[in-house]
Amino acid sequence: MSISPNELLFPASDIPASVKASLGPDLELRPLAVSDHARGHFELLTVLTAAPNIGQEAYIDRFTYMQSCPNTYYTVVIVHKETDQLVACGTVFVERKFTRSGGLVAHIEDIAVSKKMQGRKLGLLIIKTLEELGRQAGCYKVILDCSKDNIPFYEKCGFKHKEYEMVMYL
Ligand code: ACO
Repeated sequence: MSISPNELLFPASDIPASVKASLGPDLELRPLAVSDHARGHFELLTVLTAAPNIGQEAYIDRFTYMQSCPNTYYTVVIVHKETDQLVACGTVFVERKFTRSGGLVAHIEDIAVSKKMQGRKLGLLIIKTLEELGRQAGCYKVILDCSKDNIPFYEKCGFKHKEYEMVMYL
């Protein structure tokens, strides 16, 4: 099914062609689309954490807000062409700092690969895409939080361990 450019979170041309070329012919890598609620986005996110379905209307509201913040939210998805369902996704968002001469920091969030597609290097491909989007946006670093179990995966993606995460639930 073809999706028009204004239905995408950011321009598809921002995704490097070299990344797309390394995907198998059964898969497509593209920006999140407003219609991806119907392509199993929430089912996919449950491999990551509790992700109750917020419904199509709230999904469109959240998508529209993100789309209205230029050069800030980049969510990419991998679609299984035959089923037209999402099988992987990930987000990078750009934080604008006062420090570092008004530098930009890329935050990677919500990486998920469906169970049946894990081990096919889709996670790696999503991270490489997000890293490149952060670089293109002008960020000087990219950071993320993960569980201890996922440290080897992120090391293979080129990250190194630094600092500790703190949390306070509100
Ligand atoms: N422990 C050790 N090595 C791992 C792990 C792991 N948990 N996961 C992947 N790897 C290795 C692979 O073996 C592979 O190594 P190789 O290049 O030597 O063969 C390399 O990392 C790349 O693996 P991929 O095939 O790209 O990994 P995959 O597509 O399965 O995605 C992911 C990895 C994202 C962790 C996936 O398993 C997943 O969705 N898990 C559940 C959700 C989750 O934990 N998401 C990350 C949360 S953190 C965040 O969002 C910032």
